[in-house]
Amino acid sequence: MNQLLLWVSVLTSLLEAFAATDLSGKVFVFPKESSTNHVSLITKLEKPLQNFTLCFRAFSDLSRGYSLFSYNTQGKDNELLIYKERIGEYSLYIGRSSVMWKVIEEFPEPVHICVSWESASGIAEFWVNGRPLVKKGLKQGYSIGAHPKIVLGQEQDNYGAGFDKSQSFVGEIGDLYMWDSVLSPVEIMVTYQGSPNNSNILNWQALNHEIKGYVIVKPLVVALSSLNFLQ
Ligand SMILES: *[C@@H]1O[C@H](CO)[C@@H](O)[C@H](O)[C@H]1NC(C)=O
Ligand SMILES: *[C@@H]1O[C@H](CO)[C@@H](O)[C@H](O)[C@H]1NC(C)=O
Repeated sequence: MNQLLLWVSVLTSLLEAFAATDLSGKVFVFPKESSTNHVSLITKLEKPLQNFTLCFRAFSDLSRGYSLFSYNTQGKDNELLIYKERIGEYSLYIGRSSVMWKVIEEFPEPVHICVSWESASGIAEFWVNGRPLVKKGLKQGYSIGAHPKIVLGQEQDNYGAGFDKSQSFVGEIGDLYMWDSVLSPVEIMVTYQGSPNNSNILNWQALNHEIKGYVIVKPLVVALSSLNFLQ
């Protein structure tokens, strides 16, 4: 390759790597169990987090446990993790501590999940399909570390690595948004019913991400969003 072509190709891959993609109306499909396939979400989070809300849709027919959202910082495992333990049971880990929620759910059905946490009180809220579950408390006064590696599809035991097939996700994930604040119940409902446009950590409509391995972007099927109107 001549010098110019090389630079053009380097530049193109750099642009591709950092380009924010509008994934409205689409989902990531993780079609096959593995210890490698995943998506890295890239964010410029430079200050520790004292408050956050994270919302997304997921659809899976796995009955074993799996990771839904894995956020590690350098040297800190399970800094922020949403883990489905089994049907009807979700865990939130913050700084390696965890709380668990039980929910009655159809299986397999698509779910819309929102999780929020506030350092000052330690209160964590978990919403499934627009309904709040019982509030829990953990890690009061803690700050979640900055400069994370965020991974969908796998659970990290290291910084951006250390995956385990038996904790991997198989299914569809979409409409993922993350804020550095605790959303009000009304804002949660808006997110559940539509497309929020003010999320400042991760934004499905302008998502910096990198696909590794067998992960495919496909249109969101009606079933995944129609729940909005059935509840
Ligand atoms: C986090 O939320 C609390 C209110 O619960 C607020 O007082 C505090 O300023 C927030 N922290 C940041 C960094 O936004
Ligand atoms: C966000 O959406 C609302 C309602 O759909 C709209 O009024 C507002 O202008 C939007 N804001 C931005 C920054 O796009």
